[in-house]
Amino acid sequence: MTNPELPTRGLLGFGRDNMAIPGPSIIPERVLAAMAKPMTDIYAGELVDVSARVFTALPAIAGTEGPVFVVMSNGHGAWQMAINNTLSRGDEILVLESGRFAVIWGEMAARSGVKVEVLPGTDRHPIDPAAVAERLAADTGHRIKAVMCVQTDTASGVVNDIAAVRRAIDSTGHPALFMVDCIASMGCEPFHMDAWGVDVTVAASQKGLMVPPGLGFVWASERALDAHVTADLRDGYFDWDRRLNARFHYELYAGTPPVSHLYAMSEALAMIDEQGGVERAWERHRVLASAVWAAVNAWASPGGIEFNIIDPAFRSAAVTTVLTGSIPADEMRSICRYQAGLTVGVGIGDFADRAFRIGHMGYVDPPGLLGTVATVESALRAMGAPLGGSGVAAASEVIGRHLASELAR
Ligand SMILES: Cc1ncc(COP(=O)(O)O)c(C=O)c1O
Repeated sequence: MTNPELPTRGLLGFGRDNMAIPGPSIIPERVLAAMAKPMTDIYAGELVDVSARVFTALPAIAGTEGPVFVVMSNGHGAWQMAINNTLSRGDEILVLESGRFAVIWGEMAARSGVKVEVLPGTDRHPIDPAAVAERLAADTGHRIKAVMCVQTDTASGVVNDIAAVRRAIDSTGHPALFMVDCIASMGCEPFHMDAWGVDVTVAASQKGLMVPPGLGFVWASERALDAHVTADLRDGYFDWDRRLNARFHYELYAGTPPVSHLYAMSEALAMIDEQGGVERAWERHRVLASAVWAAVNAWASPGGIEFNIIDPAFRSAAVTTVLTGSIPADEMRSICRYQAGLTVGVGIGDFADRAFRIGHMGYVDPPGLLGTVATVESALRAMGAPLGGSGVAAASEVIGRHLASELAR
């Protein structure tokens, strides 16, 4: 593929490249500094302790007492690890559509030899638990071996009610494994793997977890570990056995450990801990997301700006997808980027040129977030876009209200 020629930067396009895309997210300076450490012994000493800290902290982040597997890969590699360790060639699985990513995960399963059925959904609504129950109830022979979905779909900006999907599965007594992609939501949205009966949880380092792309995570329940025993898609690299029963540090990663990423992950987890734990991170994401939602509400106008996810209860705390109506979204993004130094997320798939996305995941703070809102608003004004009102005022009011409530405590 070719790299498109970049437009020249405008007068105000000088300065930092500010990122507000839904991953990779902003990496804290502390994490970057940790990655600059020199290579070290990979069999003993400091790195083995760092690894142990990462493996000890990650289950709590996902709300499980079960094991976690850390794989050197992007999210796709973690998806593949989940598939290969739990499924067999010819198995049937049900993918719950709610945007793009669950379907892409299903396509990977299909390429791996699994029969995939997609339970259709729309890209403006969450998964409908009643439809899940209806489909599983019809599978009286229990041919469906796994149900797959995302918690947050990064294209549509939806957050699904994972506990409700679990209840729907349980209402039919169906034994399928429940596999959830939390790649966009881990560390941003409340998630309780054990309490919600999730069997396989998948995440990656580059979004809410504040580490550059390169680490995938898969958490497994007892039932998933049981399924692993007979899964015939098991392979030489992703296989859980060798990692679970590692005789020495090297085998935990099925090869040379990702030294710099482990330092980074350990630092990022320490930062979450210092902030008061992952629950505080969820709370912070909710407040910051509310500020973005207030801005989008203020901008909204007939034929202009509009939320993609219609029901406010299902808008993700990690990413907001904004439809732009008559306003060309790509031109708006280009103005943000080249005239004002801010990169916002592109509308992907069917959203091309009719949406942009604001990532508010991970290392996000009020100055960064309000700057993003203000810059987007400036670009929209520069284009003469019809705006209902000031998103900047609305967003800062939300932040101000939160500050006041903290002061009053
Ligand atoms: C929800 C979700 N799942 C899966 C992926 C794929 O992850 P990766 O691009 O790291 O392979 C992404 C990437 O944005 C995502 O947002």
